[in-house]
Amino acid sequence: MPVRLLGLNCSPRDNSNSSIMLETAFEKLDAVYPGATEHETIHLRDLHIEPCKACNVCGKTKAGKYIPCVRVDEDDVQQVLDAMVAADGILVATPVYFGLPSDLFVKFIMRTRPLRHQDFRLANRPVGVLATAGRRSGGAETAILATWLPFVRNGCLVVGNGDATCQFGAYGWAGGRGQILTDEWGLEQAFQTAERVYTLAKVIKAGAEATGFVSPMKFSYTSGTR
Ligand SMILES: Cc1cc2nc3c(=O)[nH]c(=O)nc-3n(C[C@H](O)[C@H](O)[C@H](O)COP(=O)(O)O)c2cc1C
Repeated sequence: MPVRLLGLNCSPRDNSNSSIMLETAFEKLDAVYPGATEHETIHLRDLHIEPCKACNVCGKTKAGKYIPCVRVDEDDVQQVLDAMVAADGILVATPVYFGLPSDLFVKFIMRTRPLRHQDFRLANRPVGVLATAGRRSGGAETAILATWLPFVRNGCLVVGNGDATCQFGAYGWAGGRGQILTDEWGLEQAFQTAERVYTLAKVIKAGAEATGFVSPMKFSYTSGTR
């Protein structure tokens, strides 16, 4: 069975550097590991995404029944959550805004809270980040680290580029739409990060299939509270 990878493009603009980073990474994965992965990219800009309204309803009942987000029928978020759960690994591409991931990413990722409350349905998914900044040292690193945080809270495993350079993901350097095509090293890092996600996803999937081991992560409202 191929490893299923999901790309999340978090740029609000068309023909974005972020989408090119994802496309290039997936194309090279296909070339290096033919038939090893199945991948799809979701462009958040194409979807209707309402913000989390902090109603605290999502989660599970005392009887262990999962309660979805109250906005489940109001917008397109559930389809992305389903795709994340179905994926073996996730690759996030975001533009760098003020040293952070895009506001589109932040708005979306808050809506993954039901998955955490549903006994960490994203547990053990490897996640890599491809960040593009207009300036050299323009904050790609801080944006990657900030993108990692909600995934760690979701029980995911974050990866870097796996190269001797030991970077935390891909640091694209491009301003205008499509300019990333001239950033050969940034695109190479995008592939390296995708390769790390693929490698880890493959090992975790094979281990789970061979042993039947199920993540023991359980959500509780009382753990760590007073
Ligand atoms: C609101 C906003 C904030 C930005 N902040 C930064 C920044 O902090 N550092 C930087 O180097 N570039 C910054 N940029 C430039 C973008 O990161 C750059 O244009 C990038 O290529 C956009 O990627 P995209 O094509 O995937 O949308 C900013 C752009 C916008 C619109």
